[in-house]
Formats: sequence, C-alpha cells, structure tokens
Amino acid sequence: MTEKKVYLNGEYLPLSEAKISVLDRGFLFGDGVYEVIPAYSGRLFCLEAHLQRLSNSLNAIRLSVPFDTAQWLDILQPLLIEGDAQYIYLQITRGVAGKRDHAFPEQCEATVFAMCSAIAPFEHQQGVKAITLDDVRWQLCNIKATTLLGNILLRQQAIDSGCVEAILIKDGYATEGAASNVFAVIDNVLVTPPLSNEILPGITRDVIIDLAQTNGLSLREQAISLETLQSASEIWLTSSTREILPVITLDNKPVGNGQVGEVWQTMQQFFQDYKRVVS
Ligand SMILES: Cc1ncc(COP(=O)(O)O)c(C=O)c1O
Repeated sequence: MTEKKVYLNGEYLPLSEAKISVLDRGFLFGDGVYEVIPAYSGRLFCLEAHLQRLSNSLNAIRLSVPFDTAQWLDILQPLLIEGDAQYIYLQITRGVAGKRDHAFPEQCEATVFAMCSAIAPFEHQQGVKAITLDDVRWQLCNIKATTLLGNILLRQQAIDSGCVEAILIKDGYATEGAASNVFAVIDNVLVTPPLSNEILPGITRDVIIDLAQTNGLSLREQAISLETLQSASEIWLTSSTREILPVITLDNKPVGNGQVGEVWQTMQQFFQDYKRVVS
C-alpha cells in the first residue's frame, strides 16, 4: 500500500517524511488552531463555513489568514482519498521560533499542515451513553485551538466510565460535549445552547439549525440547565465526524424512554438528504 501524502508548508510528502522542528510553537505551547472538514464523495462539506471559522480562530490568536478559499481548495483537494466519507485535518501554528519564550517571536512563519483520513463508520443508530462532567476548560472555547488538554481529559473520563462522550456543565448549565455540540428536545422543542465564548460554534450545529428552520421544526437557542437536560425527551451530540449522535443514557439513567427518539430520526433523514444534495 502506498503511504498517504500529507501537506506541509507548501509540499506534499509521504506521512513519514513530514517533519517539524521541536521549536515549533504548536509542539511547545499548543500555539495554533485547526479545522476538521468532512468530505463526502470527494466534495468538501460546508467548506466556506469551515474556512470562515478558521479565519475567526486565526484572528483570535493574532495570526494572519494565509490563503483565500480558492487557494485552500487547491491545497486540500489533492489530499482527498478514495472512499465515501473522509475528513481533512488542517492545522496552523505560529511556527518555529528561535527560542522557547511565551511571548510571540518577532519573526516567525506559520506552520501549515493538512492530511486526509477516512471517517471511521461509527455505530450509533442504537444510541450512545454520555455522562455529565464539570466544564473545567478555559474561557476561549469559541477558538478551535490545538490546546486541547481539558477536552482530552474530559473525553477520557467519559470513556473510562463506559460512555462515548462527556456533556460539560458550567455554573449549572450545559455548554457542549468534550468534542461535540449538544442539542436536547424539551417539550417537543429542539433546544441548543446559544453561541458564546463557552462553546465552539460547530458547523454541524449550524447545519442542524438551518435544517430545523427550513423544515418547520421548532427550535430555540437557549441555555439548558442540568435539571432540564435530565428531563429532556431526547439528547443529541453533533460533530463533523460523528454527525448526530443520539444519547439514550445520561449518567446511567435513560434519556426519555431510553430509545432513539423520533425527532432524531426526522433530523437524521434531513441531514443525510442534505449531505447527498450538497455532495
Ligand atoms: C469542543 C467541540 N465542540 C463542538 C464540536 C463540533 O464542531 P463541528 O460540528 O464543526 O465538527 C467539536 C468538534 O470537534 C468540538 O471539538
């Protein structure tokens, strides 16, 4: 099997030949941002929205946006591999500095890295288990930063408890999952926490909001207290690589009747149809 090619600073290289310096600030400090862009049937899904979020993340950490949409497309398209569902992982760090120092270096060229991987089929039609955990992360969760230690520790704690995801609670309210956004069906209304610095503005979240509005489903962007979450008839977790995961057990208690809900089934159909239309 030929080794997969990745993109690093203007070159396409076999994965094993792509190397960065130990002085790269991404390695030393997690000083960088990233994107995960799914592709279906060889077409990047919601590319503009992902690139807009990337620009927002870069601006937030005071890095300039290195390429426009057409240039990104030229860089990313050749990475796409055979298969129905893939994703591009794209990372930009502040680059290699002369020495390790927290302050920004005066001269530094950003490191740009991208690779493509298959989206592993994730068995979720029967629903998944989640736990609630304290949201111990920082206050800039709207930036898609590579500095992910908080998210990693929380996800691992969920897995150690036999769950697929942690739903994070801050000051008594749900923020998001360790690597996903959260939706709940409350009194037949689809509810998701509003955008703020406490959550990542998920692209899947946006697609679901649009699909709900286009198809006449009641939807509210509103804070969800832990008690409300516990009494929800459905809970979903959304992300680019796992799409819409129905949660059937929260903290070892059934969500609703403990089965995948009807609203999820409806939205799942809308989402799959939408993917086909835009791919
Ligand atoms: C913390 C966090 N929130 C939300 C999401 C969902 O974002 P998207 O739908 O753009 O993948 C992710 C995705 O990985 C994430 O890491």
